[in-house]
Amino acid sequence: MNRCTSVFEALAQARSHIDARIETEILLAHILKKDRAFLFAHPEAKLSPAELAHYQVLIAERVKGMPIAYIIGYRPFWSLTLKVTPDTLIPRHETERLVEIALESIPNEPHQTLLDLGTGSGAVALAIAKERPTWMIDATDFCPKALEVAQENARRHNITNIHFYLSDWFLQLPLNRYHAIVSNPPYIPIHDEHISQGDVRFEPQSALVSGEDGLESIRHIIKYSVDFLHPEGLLLLEHGYCQKNKIMSILSQLGYQNIKCWKDYLGHDRVSGGIRPITPNE
Ligand SMILES: C[S@@+](CC[C@H](N)C(=O)[O-])C[C@H]1O[C@@H](n2cnc3c(N)ncnc32)[C@H](O)[C@@H]1O
Repeated sequence: MNRCTSVFEALAQARSHIDARIETEILLAHILKKDRAFLFAHPEAKLSPAELAHYQVLIAERVKGMPIAYIIGYRPFWSLTLKVTPDTLIPRHETERLVEIALESIPNEPHQTLLDLGTGSGAVALAIAKERPTWMIDATDFCPKALEVAQENARRHNITNIHFYLSDWFLQLPLNRYHAIVSNPPYIPIHDEHISQGDVRFEPQSALVSGEDGLESIRHIIKYSVDFLHPEGLLLLEHGYCQKNKIMSILSQLGYQNIKCWKDYLGHDRVSGGIRPITPNE
């Protein structure tokens, strides 16, 4: 490629390194600060030498396996564009189902209180806060750099009804009672082969892995949510598609009521939850 390289030529050249056409387009549109439609409308547009050099660097990063979201630094989630970095999980489309279920299940009344555990980029808390601006939301993560990203995302979107806490699950939280607790915790077993494959290799292990069976964090959250939920408060957890039965059984052993599992958009069991058990003194 030379200094007169056009959009059409740059894309064609990149396709000899990367199979997925959409990825070559996203990266070029990012560099040109245009949307992808511009590339189709103006295939003859010329790249400056600096733009071309930058494009080649980004293509090389992608060839090494770096996820597109980390290369361009953002990911769409719900109605938001979220900053992401290698300190945060890249928010997944299926997690939008957790948001949807929370919005459907929690009565839409002002001043509801909600806790998002393991907020990462802030995806779940921010999407719910945007839809329910009068709710009071707390969001935690134990990774300071992830929490900084979540706070920046809140500022960028002018979302002011979330308090962020650096906390190991509930440990550093004030003893509040919430109407609902939601979480997309780590849930992959430590020896799962997927951890060393594809884009996942570049994501923080602490955002993905949770003990031998993947359920360590989920067990902890189910157990301690009892102390942080109002009576009748709702717990909702995203999980792997094979984990439904084990999670329902943990919820049931701890006395949760109205236990349910919801499927994601692909028909996989994806979110389970229940109503806080009544404790003997209540
Ligand atoms: C699967 S990611 C979910 C991130 C975000 N909620 C989302 O859905 O995109 C799990 C998050 O839990 C956080 N986490 C893991 N262990 C934690 C702990 N002990 N206390 C607090 N947060 C934790 C990780 O740092 C990570 O941000």
